[in-house]
Amino acid sequence: MRYGKFDDEQREYVIDRPDTPLPWINYLGTDEYFGIVSNTAGGYSFYRDAKLRRLTRYRYNNAPFDIGGRYLYLRDDASGDFWSPSWQPTRSTLDEYECRHGLSYTRIASARSGIRAETLYFVPLGETLEVWRTKVTNERDTAAELSLFSSVEFCLWDAQDDATNFQRNFNTGQVEVVDGVIYHKTEYRERRDHFAYFACSEPLAGFDTQRETFLGAYRGWDQPAAVERGAAFDSVANGWQPMGSHHVKLSLAPGESREVIFVLGYAENPRAEKFDPPGSQTVNKRYVRPVIERWLRPETVAEGFAKLGAYWERLLGNLQVTTPDADTDRMVNIWNAYQCMVTFNMSRSASFYESGIGRGMGFRDSNQDLLGFVHIIPERARERILDIAGTQKETGGAYHQYQPLTKRGNNDIGEGFNDDPLWLVLGVSAYLKETGDLSILDAPVPFDNAPGSEVPLYEHLRRSVQYTQDRLGPHGLPLIGRADWNDCLNLNCFSETPGEPFQTTENVSGGSAESVFIAGQFVLAAKELAAIAELRALDGEAAEYRAAAEKMTGVILEHGWDGAWFRRAYDFHGNPIGSGENDEGQIFVEPQGMCVLGGVGLDDGLAAQALRSVADRLATPHGIVLQQPAYTSYRIELGEISSYPPGYKENAGIFCHTNPWIMIAEAMVGNGDGAFDYYKRINPSAREEISELHRCEPYVYAQMIAGKDAATHGEAKNSWLTGTAAWNFVAITQWILGIRPELAGLRVDPVLPGSWEGFRATRAYRGATYEITVRKPAGSSGRVAYLIVDGERVDGTVVPPAAAGKVVQVEAVVEG
Ligand code: BGC
Ligand code: NOJ
Repeated sequence: MRYGKFDDEQREYVIDRPDTPLPWINYLGTDEYFGIVSNTAGGYSFYRDAKLRRLTRYRYNNAPFDIGGRYLYLRDDASGDFWSPSWQPTRSTLDEYECRHGLSYTRIASARSGIRAETLYFVPLGETLEVWRTKVTNERDTAAELSLFSSVEFCLWDAQDDATNFQRNFNTGQVEVVDGVIYHKTEYRERRDHFAYFACSEPLAGFDTQRETFLGAYRGWDQPAAVERGAAFDSVANGWQPMGSHHVKLSLAPGESREVIFVLGYAENPRAEKFDPPGSQTVNKRYVRPVIERWLRPETVAEGFAKLGAYWERLLGNLQVTTPDADTDRMVNIWNAYQCMVTFNMSRSASFYESGIGRGMGFRDSNQDLLGFVHIIPERARERILDIAGTQKETGGAYHQYQPLTKRGNNDIGEGFNDDPLWLVLGVSAYLKETGDLSILDAPVPFDNAPGSEVPLYEHLRRSVQYTQDRLGPHGLPLIGRADWNDCLNLNCFSETPGEPFQTTENVSGGSAESVFIAGQFVLAAKELAAIAELRALDGEAAEYRAAAEKMTGVILEHGWDGAWFRRAYDFHGNPIGSGENDEGQIFVEPQGMCVLGGVGLDDGLAAQALRSVADRLATPHGIVLQQPAYTSYRIELGEISSYPPGYKENAGIFCHTNPWIMIAEAMVGNGDGAFDYYKRINPSAREEISELHRCEPYVYAQMIAGKDAATHGEAKNSWLTGTAAWNFVAITQWILGIRPELAGLRVDPVLPGSWEGFRATRAYRGATYEITVRKPAGSSGRVAYLIVDGERVDGTVVPPAAAGKVVQVEAVVEG
């Protein structure tokens, strides 16, 4: 069952009923000012940091699930009937409803008793504000006297404090209403640097800024007193819950439309003028007033929206494909690329499943997000790499997370995830392959942001690899630390009192548990770093990295191979995990993917054997589960993984992030049918028909789909902010379609399903444009035999780099 449809032409998903199984959301903003918006206008906004600069309040995990947002109310002043044109929060019956989620904008349209309303929400490029443009049309054959109310609830900036520190916060809220603009200035007394504003293009019949007055005591957003009585109270908040609401009266003749624009924005006074006007308690409006006036004009809004469209047209133009498969085209050309941009911007901070106050930017996560984003805006990838590397410690170790506003490592979780540093090598390598910009390696980057500690970025990469080499365990495999990629595999936990589920993490850094996953990742990273060292003419060093990779490969083959698949780890006591010797958790997906990505087992058939084991033991019609058999009880020596019920999350859920590793591995062993089959199983567009089971948005990947041991097998959870986005993009575009940036140039080496007869693609790469055509006899599962580049035959599969600005025709010929 579907709840909408794709409109590929407009690059939109069109939701045709408001009661989707879960809020189906979208993101506003591309750079600094961001918002989350659901299909019923729920969500919130923030400036740069969802924790520290939250503009509007949102209460997570509510009932109904999604309440609080950018709500408008319409009231028929003749009858007193009122409703929400976005359905929530009044949930009044709508005669028509449609929500179009597009690229960084959302449009919600509806009609009730002859009154149509259509609201466009977007953040203009380069601005720190959002626009709501509402068009109200009277489709009746009589005149309509209407009231339109806007509403937002302000957050007192630090979202965590806002949600907890009520004894203070019920006293601090302050607003100012000047010339119809509502300014939210809590914190302005002490800081005088930032405030929010909420403005409306029409003359106001009234306003409200105190939530309890607007709603009325003991009432919710579904029945605001001001809306019910048809008149605002002109309330001014002193403490409690500051909010913003405008009341506009509209008299519409039959067939008449009126456009009303609301602007919600964030302003920061220039540093030097923080205290201007001196001693004054009023917000400094000098800079913001012209901005507000500009964005309340319909021409500015129309132009700003057109620019946003052109921006996305240009970004997506960097890679467009035409294949025989509509789900592939739609995801590669539109939605997966878009999700990669969103994960790049948000890391794991703000979604409907990440509260914006928890995880900030992840060292591991953001490095992986780069893989799917770097071709979209390489300059921003460069900046991000330098930010991430600047949080690295001198030991090569990494804070697991950092705060976007301060760019400082976040001590909440600390360090000791021993895979973290290696992801930096993989992120930088992806950047170099895309751009060829070797200068980044010489960019000075501090350790732990300490001034004066700067060394070239290349030195950070060395330390990342050294970090693993300095931490090898009893079998010569890398120590796992607190956990590796699998946050929940905590193998250095033990019970101090036998039989008691007491867990200590004190010994984690010194714990002796080892990870085969990190071993595979090390082999991959060491080879990548060797290639980078060669580019710097450091041949001796390159040879050392290659030797280290080879040595680790040997260790994996000796201690990490279980007979038919790669083992996962050794626990604190030296027992294998992910082995036939275990009663549960005998085979894990991650090392099968990562070891093959590192090239382990490719020459001797072990890779193919590991992949057969994945197919036999882990694959389901809904994707590949993380491990089998699921843990049926909690086990102290395994940690959080066994805290999940079987089939969910890391305990044998379909952890989608890992599936593309297997797709890539299948492509590496030449199995195009297998790789593409796995790709389709979790492709959200291909799952649209089962939306009532899948439940999450059909246009983006979710982190997890419940596995075969779960009661709700096939149900997705935690959509949007997941490494699944970047890795699936890499799997389909670079390995299955085979258009793969390498240090030497662009490789075209697809591994396609047998039934395909080829495909076409346009790829921007290092300033030139490549028009690629792949021709393949149907039924063949062969590989590219040679390329024809601008009419000349080229042996091999690497297209020689072209001058910037050139358009290069590439034909890849697959022989039968
Ligand atoms: C989740 C993991 C997540 C981690 C983040 C765990 O509870 O299961 O998927 O990565 O929390 O801290
Ligand atoms: C989600 C986290 O963001 C990611 O870093 C981790 O690798 C996976 N969960 C698996 O535990």
